[in-house]
Amino acid sequence: MTVTIVGAQLGDEGKGGIVDVYGDAADIVVRYQGGDNAGHTVVHEGDEYKLSLVPSGAVRGKIGVLGNGCVVNPETLFDELSALRERGLDPDVRVARRAHVIMPYHRVLDGIEEEMKRESDDEIGTTGRGIGPTYEDKAGRRGIRVGDLLTPDVLRDRLERVVPEKRAVVEDVFGVDVETLDDPDALDTDAMYEHARAYGERLAGQTVNAGQFIADARDDGKQVMFEGAQGTIIDIDHGNYPYVTSSNPTAGGAAVGSGVSPGVVGEGTTLGIVKGYLTRVGSGPMPTELGGVEGDTPGYDEQGSGENEELATYIREEGGEYGTVTGRPRRVGWLDMPMLRHSARVNGFTGLAINHVDVLAGLDEVRVGHSYTLDGDERLTMPATTEQWGRCEANVRSFDGWAPFDSAAVAREGYEAIPANARAYLDYVSGELETPVYCVGVGPGREETVVTEAVW
Ligand code: GDP
Ligand code: IMO
Ligand code: MG
Repeated sequence: MTVTIVGAQLGDEGKGGIVDVYGDAADIVVRYQGGDNAGHTVVHEGDEYKLSLVPSGAVRGKIGVLGNGCVVNPETLFDELSALRERGLDPDVRVARRAHVIMPYHRVLDGIEEEMKRESDDEIGTTGRGIGPTYEDKAGRRGIRVGDLLTPDVLRDRLERVVPEKRAVVEDVFGVDVETLDDPDALDTDAMYEHARAYGERLAGQTVNAGQFIADARDDGKQVMFEGAQGTIIDIDHGNYPYVTSSNPTAGGAAVGSGVSPGVVGEGTTLGIVKGYLTRVGSGPMPTELGGVEGDTPGYDEQGSGENEELATYIREEGGEYGTVTGRPRRVGWLDMPMLRHSARVNGFTGLAINHVDVLAGLDEVRVGHSYTLDGDERLTMPATTEQWGRCEANVRSFDGWAPFDSAAVAREGYEAIPANARAYLDYVSGELETPVYCVGVGPGREETVVTEAVW
């Protein structure tokens, strides 16, 4: 049996928390895409852990695997491992030899490309971790893989070809003087060779052939959980391109990015993680957006500072909606049902985890974007082009609000203890997506989740 955890929206739905809630029965937790652009939170007994590359199962002492679909910055991995050790955890993370390595020049290029796009106001608002440039090199067949770090001759050959190319791009395409960069060594072949070789030596004991490692573990009866990062609408194929990340957070990515067959993922549980409203960090359309964030929200100036802006600020503060990785304020909107219908279809969710139901408590009214109007027609799902999506107007439905409640007590008592109006809201979402609710987040902690269905 496997369990696959997938973000149903734009990231930050509370995936880390759900990995933790259901992680007790897992033996291995596998990240299958993304890198240290992710920021997953686990809260247990008052301790809050922010995990970036280390799979969230580490909090429960589970073996973590970074699959071939991940991009790994060894520097941030080792920093994170030692920060977790200092807090008393003993993380055991195996890294796929097929995973690609984020090199310092990838971060430099991420920064320069965003800066250039900012001049024409079309930046993505990336996390600046070098994610896009690393996946570009993977697709361009000039990437450095974790396995290459262990083979100095191969590493040297590859860097001798790649680093001068990167230097030329920085200097000749972008017109940036390398010596003015914070890290000019990032464009120096010898320095990059030493950097990568040294990390290769440190990583040597923890690299694996991930697909084989997972298959052997399953043959031994071990339970495997796949931990998606980011979310469906920032998937490079199924999201709102180009305002996306460069990998496939969707359920299909779990197979490709870890080396198990699609059948293995398909016969298990695929849990869609839904935030009870919507947040977004970075640019791109958001038809149900309330108040915007300067620099990220297209047309921010027109959004003004009316009632919606106040509501957005209220939800942002109640929900602590500030980026885990970059600290940026998140854009806030109502739940977007056409987005969720698209997401449910793409991923084939067998169950839903709906989080942040406590954050909405205390509002008189909770709204959802039930459908869109585009060019005079009503639509129940997202159009395929971002240009069209940007022109969609949300048709809103209203639900009566619910009063604040004692989250831990409700979680102990079960689903029926959730306020009736909140249950009406959850039943609507579940009904529209034709997918049962497996659990409901009523607070950030492990004990603040109402679990109605087992996943294993
Ligand atoms: P992830 O990237 O999907 O793992 O989500 P993040 O960790 O980036 O953001 C989710 C935030 O909401 C974290 O601070 C969580 O601790 C918190 N959180 C998760 N579920 C709930 C919930 O049901 N209620 C509240 N109030 N906070 C939650
Ligand atoms: P978790 O796993 C929310 C967004 C960035 C930007 C776009 C591209 O915590 O849910 P990138 O650095 O990946 O090239 O940035 O994707 N983004 C996320 N938004 N949660 C995340 O991860 C994200 N990872 C990337 O803000 O808009
Ligand atoms: Mg996050």
